[in-house]
Amino acid sequence: MTNIQTNGVTQSVRPLEPQPAAIVVGASSGIGAALVKELAKRGYRVGALARREDKLDELVAGIKGQTLVKAIPHDVTDYEAIPDVFSQLVDELGGLDLIIYAAGVMPNVGPEEYDFEKDRQQVEINLLGAMGWLNLAARRFQITKSGTIIGIGSVAGDRGRKGNPAYHTTKGALATYLESLRNRLADSNVQVTTIKPGFIDTAMLDGVEGTFWVISPERAAELILNAAEKKRQIAYVPFQWRFVMLIIKYIPSFIFRKLSV
Ligand SMILES: NC(=O)c1ccc[n+]([C@@H]2O[C@H](COP(=O)([O-])OP(=O)(O)OC[C@H]3O[C@@H](n4cnc5c(N)ncnc54)[C@H](OP(=O)(O)O)[C@@H]3O)[C@@H](O)[C@H]2O)c1
Repeated sequence: MTNIQTNGVTQSVRPLEPQPAAIVVGASSGIGAALVKELAKRGYRVGALARREDKLDELVAGIKGQTLVKAIPHDVTDYEAIPDVFSQLVDELGGLDLIIYAAGVMPNVGPEEYDFEKDRQQVEINLLGAMGWLNLAARRFQITKSGTIIGIGSVAGDRGRKGNPAYHTTKGALATYLESLRNRLADSNVQVTTIKPGFIDTAMLDGVEGTFWVISPERAAELILNAAEKKRQIAYVPFQWRFVMLIIKYIPSFIFRKLSV
C-alpha cells in the first residue's frame, strides 16, 4: 500500500486492483446515466455523482445484478469538497481504473445576450469541475501507471461559433486540457480519451433546432466506452461527425461567420 498526496489529501494506492472500478461525474441523466448503466453491464463497480439525488437513486434502483453502484450527491462547483469525495469513493470502490467527466450545462443564449452569470456557470461546471476531478485521477494514475480518463467535450468546441460563446469556449478548452493530460501521462501508461458528441437525445437537446444524426444516450455510452477501450485519443460520437468537423474546421472565418453552423 502506497500513500500519495494531491491537493493536501492523502489517498492509499494498492499496486494490484484486480476488479475494474469507475467514477462518472455528471451521472444523474442523459449520457452520464447511460454510461453508469453500460459500465455496470460491463462488470464495473461505479461511483455516480451529480446534484439531483432523486435521479441518482432512480438510476441505482434501475440497475440489476450484483454490481456495486455508489451514488453520491455532489455539485462540481463545490471545488473544496472534491478531494474528500474522490478519496471516499476510491476507498469504497476499492480502487479506480476509469474516470469519466460528463457534467455539463448549456443554457439558452440569445443572439444579443451577453450574460456573465451564464458564462461563469458554464466555465465553472464544464471546465473547472473537470479540472478539479480529473487532476486527482491523473495524479493517482500517474503513480499507479494505469488508468483511463474520458472527458465529454463536444463538436461545439471545434470552432468559436456564434451560438453560445461560453459553451464553445469551455468545450474547446476542455479538449486542450485533455490533450495536455494525455501528453503528460503518455509515459505512465494512462489513456486519455476526448469524446466529441454530435447530437445525443438528452435533456440538453430540448428546444435545440436543426438536429440530425441524433442517437440515444445508450448508444452514445457504448460508443464512448468502445472508443476508450480501443485507446482512441479523440473520438467523434457518432463517428461521421469527424468528417463534418474536418470540413468545418477549415472553413475560412469570413465564410464561417456567415453560416448558421
Ligand atoms: N446532448 C448532446 O447533444 C450533447 C452534445 C455534445 C456534448 N454533450 C455533453 O455531454 C455531457 C452530458 O450532457 P447530456 O447531454 O447528457 O445532458 P444532461 O442530461 O443535461 O446531463 C448533464 C449532467 O451534468 C450534471 N451536472 C450539471 N451541473 C452539475 C453540477 N454543478 N454538479 C454536478 N453535476 C452537474 C447533471 O446532473 P445534475 O443536474 O443532477 O447535477 C447531469 O447529470 C455534457 O458535458 C454536454 O455538454 C451533449
